[in-house]
Amino acid sequence: MPPAMDPLFSHHEVVRPTVELPPGAHLVENFLSLEEQRWLVARFHEWGQGPVPPRYPLIGGHPMSVQSVCLGWHWNPGRLTREAIDQNGLPVPPVPDWLVRLGQRAVHAATGSQDEASAYRPDTALINYYDDQARMGMHQDREERSPAPVVSLSIGNSCRFRFGNRESRARPYVDLELRSGDLFVFGGPSRLAFHGVMEVLPGTSPQDCGMTDGRINITLRESGMA
Ligand code: SIN
Ligand code: MN
Repeated sequence: MPPAMDPLFSHHEVVRPTVELPPGAHLVENFLSLEEQRWLVARFHEWGQGPVPPRYPLIGGHPMSVQSVCLGWHWNPGRLTREAIDQNGLPVPPVPDWLVRLGQRAVHAATGSQDEASAYRPDTALINYYDDQARMGMHQDREERSPAPVVSLSIGNSCRFRFGNRESRARPYVDLELRSGDLFVFGGPSRLAFHGVMEVLPGTSPQDCGMTDGRINITLRESGMA
């Protein structure tokens, strides 16, 4: 008879298999405390109130399945603008100082480099909301001119995140689970790696993270533009 499951190992305590990531890519599990996650979820609801409301960006005329709001620079596939030119034309709010500091803390946690962390000045943030059906195809984050890393924070349902190479959407790539509170950073030789969200895993949101449904992802970047 197999041994009874040790009650210590509940769902969220299961150790994830170690996935080897390419140079410049880092996963920091449980980077955000539950309190921080709840706080960020409250900000997410505020950002959703405008001045520019969330929208489904169009790719080749087709709406993405992900809803997004922007800070600092308004993201449209292939273009960053100060105003929401595809919506109400209003300027998007700046990236708040506390979010810049959170980005610096994230770079430090991921890379261990205080110099890299202190130099990090994200001036654009993309906040995406995924319902259970939402996906994001493999793409590169290449609208920015700065080579500084992308910082990605996840809250709510877990997802299967695919992280690949700079050449194409095809292999080699790794699939990893991003869970609520996780940090993923990609910079250096991985800054332009293709990546995407293959599926959201419904019902995986931890209690008390502030989300009962869906997944939020916040990415911070440096635009390299004035
Ligand atoms: C993105 O690539 O912009 C978002 C990635 C994610 O949702 O984890
Ligand atoms: Mn991306």
